[in-house]
Amino acid sequence: MRDADPQPVRLTDYRPPDWLVDTVDLDVRLHPQATRVVARLGMRPNPLGRPGAPIVLDGDELELKSVALDGAPLAGAGYAATPSSLTILAPPQEPLVLTIETVLDPSANTKLMGLYCSSGTYCTQCEAEGFRRITYFPDRPDVLAVYTTRIEAEREEAPVLLGNGNKVESGDIEGTTRHFAVWHDPWPKPCYLFALVGGKLDRITEPFVTATGKEVELGIYVEPGKAARAGYAMDALKRSMRWDEEVFGCEYDLDVFNIVAVADFNMGAMENKGLNVFNDKYVLASPETATDADYANIEAIIAHEYFHNWTGNRITCRDWFQLCLKEGLTVFRDQEFSSDQRSRPVKRIADVRLLKSHQFAEDAGPLAHPVRPATYREINNFYTATVYEKGAEVVRMLKTLLGEEGFRAGMDLYFDRHDGQAATVEEFLTCFADANGADLSQFALWYAQSGTPQVEVNGHWDAAARSYRLDVRQTQVPTPGQPDKQPMLIPLALGLVGADGRDLPLVPDDGTNAAGSVLVVSRPEQSFVFRDVEARPVPSINRGFSAPVKLTTNLASEDLLFLARHDTDPFNRFEAGQTLALAHLVSASGLAPEKTLAGALAAGGTALVEALIEALGASLEDETLDPAFIAQVLSVPSEGDIAREIGSEVDPDAIHAARRSLRRALGEALRPGLERAYGRHAPDGAYSPDAVSAGRRALRNAALELMASTGEAADIARALAHFETADNMTDRFFALSVLAHHAPAERDAALDAFYQRFRDDPLVIDKWLALQAQIAEPETLERVRELTRHPAFSMGNPNRVRALIGNFAAANQTQFHRPDGAGHLFVADAVLELDRRNPQVAARLLGAFKSWRSLEPTRRGSAERALRRIADGPGLSPDVSDIVARSLG
Ligand code: PHE
Ligand code: ZN
Repeated sequence: MRDADPQPVRLTDYRPPDWLVDTVDLDVRLHPQATRVVARLGMRPNPLGRPGAPIVLDGDELELKSVALDGAPLAGAGYAATPSSLTILAPPQEPLVLTIETVLDPSANTKLMGLYCSSGTYCTQCEAEGFRRITYFPDRPDVLAVYTTRIEAEREEAPVLLGNGNKVESGDIEGTTRHFAVWHDPWPKPCYLFALVGGKLDRITEPFVTATGKEVELGIYVEPGKAARAGYAMDALKRSMRWDEEVFGCEYDLDVFNIVAVADFNMGAMENKGLNVFNDKYVLASPETATDADYANIEAIIAHEYFHNWTGNRITCRDWFQLCLKEGLTVFRDQEFSSDQRSRPVKRIADVRLLKSHQFAEDAGPLAHPVRPATYREINNFYTATVYEKGAEVVRMLKTLLGEEGFRAGMDLYFDRHDGQAATVEEFLTCFADANGADLSQFALWYAQSGTPQVEVNGHWDAAARSYRLDVRQTQVPTPGQPDKQPMLIPLALGLVGADGRDLPLVPDDGTNAAGSVLVVSRPEQSFVFRDVEARPVPSINRGFSAPVKLTTNLASEDLLFLARHDTDPFNRFEAGQTLALAHLVSASGLAPEKTLAGALAAGGTALVEALIEALGASLEDETLDPAFIAQVLSVPSEGDIAREIGSEVDPDAIHAARRSLRRALGEALRPGLERAYGRHAPDGAYSPDAVSAGRRALRNAALELMASTGEAADIARALAHFETADNMTDRFFALSVLAHHAPAERDAALDAFYQRFRDDPLVIDKWLALQAQIAEPETLERVRELTRHPAFSMGNPNRVRALIGNFAAANQTQFHRPDGAGHLFVADAVLELDRRNPQVAARLLGAFKSWRSLEPTRRGSAERALRRIADGPGLSPDVSDIVARSLG
């Protein structure tokens, strides 16, 4: 057990380890209740550490059996063991072998950290600090060792035994029912990348030949009977491996690469060296059970974990403050991979949507923190949208600033210079500075300052001078612990769109720093002037969302309507419509702030809404556009986006109503076009998960939903038929969700039919749970409460908990924030119950309260009471107490 209220860890307190570990020899005898681990650690004093220091090892919930130094048992006086550490008091200051024997209970491990059993399979999860639950060890990422692991188990219970690296030996243990395997990983690694698996698993395998001709055996292991559903993951893996060779020059470095899918997993997946462990939700797919979104997620996450082999494993992090060094960079890499495999604009739109809904929300509330935090109390709570998604945006900006080649030169230098090391963000940036002769000191603020920068851009055309001037002002808002901030380096990609819809050539006037089509903003206020501008253009600013900022402009609604029809930058074409829709939704929620676009729209009445609908209609009819893109254009901003735009005194019911009526208006006004799209994109063959087919389904389903949101009987009947005749999960589930949200009379029968059909398929049942949790009506809370008692639900499985309670809290704003406080109370009690079992999952659920301060007073009061109730809970985990303290702080 750890202390309930641990001292914060600070980046500035970093010291190199006193002792290094060169080799780890593990002998693990698997047993459901008493697994015995013997660890032989080849250690030596670190020349950079404190001379004469004792050996201090981390531990967590371990039963210590014995300690030996260089083979000789160490008496009790030679060491001190506490629940969280083992100290060797006066070790000789020379290379030595420390042997430690511990016993642990995998079946009692409900935290799913360390060694645990997932539906009968033994597996491990060590990031960030789980290895200390397997043996005493210096559990920090800057201690890199070569691991050899011997795993022994009952042959019946665990015929498959997997470890990191290559298998070097295996066999039966004569005269017993047991067998063993020995795995050796030649690449030094931190202990968080350790993994082992033992169980009854089916497998698919494929060969892969690397760029230099080395043969690799790829394996994916799944629960018995599910091998047929692993094919898409295998395909994605092979494409990822090839892509990383072609785009980053990164080649795989072991003889085997294994992936294991497990049913009980705290996160999405884990990049253990040569042995990735996945939440099965991100491996298993078939047309009947997985949606297009599931396929896209599988592709992205398979790629992400594979890409970690270089960005994370070959080059790891010096300490956990550097988490974004591997995560932000690897998310950027997986985003680029998906962009190359699918539609780049549509991928960008999806990524920015996610960034805004999760990261901007985090950055605007009490849990805001920098991409590289300076302090933490519980590292598990920093696997956040800021570290991952904003971290990826920062890498993307580097690429925008340095250009394709400059970026690749920096990456090459990084791989070259730091291979085999535990690196820092500074070292990463220095590679880009060195490779490009660039000064990145101001850019580095993106890692240190939290909060979303606000950028205001006002454009002025000077008819007499035939010039166009953009006045840019940046503002950094205060965030927790950061009252004052410095101006940042902000790359704003720009186009000046002429009346014919084409971009004008950008001719910077002397004395401005516009480089090509990217404005590099570095000062609090700055102007950029372009000459030879014959007629008033419409500026398209922050194209491709080149900087993760909140942008405001002096564009009139007519300008935005023009961009929504004509911008050649697909992202900004999409964004122009969203900006208008958002402004309308804010004012329709009854809370238009003065002098904003929303205010202007409210004053302008319905004419502008009609113009917006017309512009969206034009995109709908435009056959040159990608259907997947049109589907994005037609999807109105989320309730969370609207709430964030309003900022304070938020009333989720008003937002919900405004959004619903806009969609109804769209459904009514665009009906002919929607009907045509629905007909044109009817399935024309067997289901295929490719991006083009998925895009057609996305548009067809968007049309189905917009029409059904009118509530017309014929539209509901169409949705019902869509549900009943669907031959794939994408269409079936989409139709079910349309019925659940728009057809109260048809809903229960459809939900029941769906349940009966898929009752034995937990991953599909998660969709069923999630959907019911998202219905925006007062009966939902009682429904969710009942579902917690349904046989399909389990508090012990993170996927079930996230599907039902997680979606209620994060994806049902009106019911989570019920004015009577019952939603808050329900989630608070769930957090308290979960915390006793799995603190990480509990803490993540608690994150749903992150925007509580922006609610109107009644709801704000009830959220605060719920948070205080949690804070007063007995024996809180560090995970939950950290989040609750920061949320209230
Ligand atoms: N490192 C994992 C990733 O690729 C995430 C993870 C963190 C998984 C902690 C488990 C535990 O993003
Ligand atoms: Zn990752």
